[in-house]
Amino acid sequence: MDKILHQAQHLRGEITVPGDKSISHRAVMIGSLSEGITEVVGFLNAADPRSTLECINALGIETSLTPDTLRISGKGLHGYREPKALLDAGNSGTTIRLLTGILAGQKFRSTISGDQYLVRRPMKRIIDPLTEMGAHVVGTDKLTAPLKIFPSEKLHGITYELPIPSAQVKSAILFAGLFAEGTTTVVELQGSRDHTERMLGLTQTRTDSLINVAVVGGTRIPSKQFYIPGDPSSAAFFIVAGLIAHDAEIMIKNVGINPTRTGFLDVLHSMGGNIAIENERLIGGEPIGDLVVKSSALRSNVILEGEIIPNIIDEIPILAVAAAFAEGTFQVRGAYELRNKESDRIGAVCENLSLMGIDVEELEDGFAFNSKSVLIPTSFDSFGDHRIAMAFGVAAVNLQGESTVKDSGCVDISFPAFWDTLHTLAN
Ligand code: S3P
Repeated sequence: MDKILHQAQHLRGEITVPGDKSISHRAVMIGSLSEGITEVVGFLNAADPRSTLECINALGIETSLTPDTLRISGKGLHGYREPKALLDAGNSGTTIRLLTGILAGQKFRSTISGDQYLVRRPMKRIIDPLTEMGAHVVGTDKLTAPLKIFPSEKLHGITYELPIPSAQVKSAILFAGLFAEGTTTVVELQGSRDHTERMLGLTQTRTDSLINVAVVGGTRIPSKQFYIPGDPSSAAFFIVAGLIAHDAEIMIKNVGINPTRTGFLDVLHSMGGNIAIENERLIGGEPIGDLVVKSSALRSNVILEGEIIPNIIDEIPILAVAAAFAEGTFQVRGAYELRNKESDRIGAVCENLSLMGIDVEELEDGFAFNSKSVLIPTSFDSFGDHRIAMAFGVAAVNLQGESTVKDSGCVDISFPAFWDTLHTLAN
């Protein structure tokens, strides 16, 4: 369904954003491997984490979901049963990659796949390290899903230096490490989100510029309660919406501010964004705060490359929108990974910026543009990608005239109430 949008006269109010997607997936998986009842408060009830939940149910783990709490009856590390059918990860890269790490350690055969977008995404990145651990994971000729996971004699711990900075790959290896003999260590050159480490209680050590995290095979997981903060990647859309609107003041309550996720706030601050973090606190091992955003005259002289890229990987589309409404230049380099997301996000961002009238240079690993004083309303393509739909939805409410976002329903992947929340702030 196409969404028709007009320029908002103001954006005002107090909102919350739904629970963190990365933490929600992990809470379900860790809960399913724990011994006893795990309670999850603030679970993101959206299509992606529901894919994880359904896979876990198909593996014989009982769960119950009320509006307040998700309860998972964990059966310990060896409590899964063989699924009767193919496991469906839907659109979710986190589901297929992390769960394959767990399935690699099971004594039964399973197959996992997903939708038309997921089956195009690369899986070699997890097949390689899992194979090195002794797992038997077979993809298509192109090393994509469906993935067939055969039982293997025994997994063994490895030390693996991540060739690409990816929390999904890191987490898949750490989960497989729970089923391996000995210690499994993942070495990162560039830090990626650390939720798996925090939730499993693993410690990171730093040597030179490398980050090491290790898990000991057979470590039992006690049941516990997880509190899931608001997703900073979802908050990012309303933060930018508030900054670029002429008349805006938005309070976003209970947002996760884990430093492995908040690089985008630093970028927006450097552009002159008026964003205050209030009431900072730590809940369940994750830092949380309330954010207050006010209209700001953004100036952009920004080059994003190197170490910050994994930290802001999901926010690059909305940062590009912020820069489009700022004065100055914006460049992203070293972000080839964006081409492997729910859509080719480099291509998608460039196409949509061009539709607004921006002269954008598409690069293999990023893009570059100068802002323009007059931008034109248009018909944006979401490419079926939730973050592209939301980023250009935010652009649309700042353009003079009528714009549309095609296939706008894809926001259900991470933020089902996105359009309603935008509407509430504009009224
Ligand atoms: C995620 C990690 C990131 C991110 C994705 C969620 C996770 O992917 O883009 O939305 O939950 O671990 P990569 O780790 O592959 O970069």
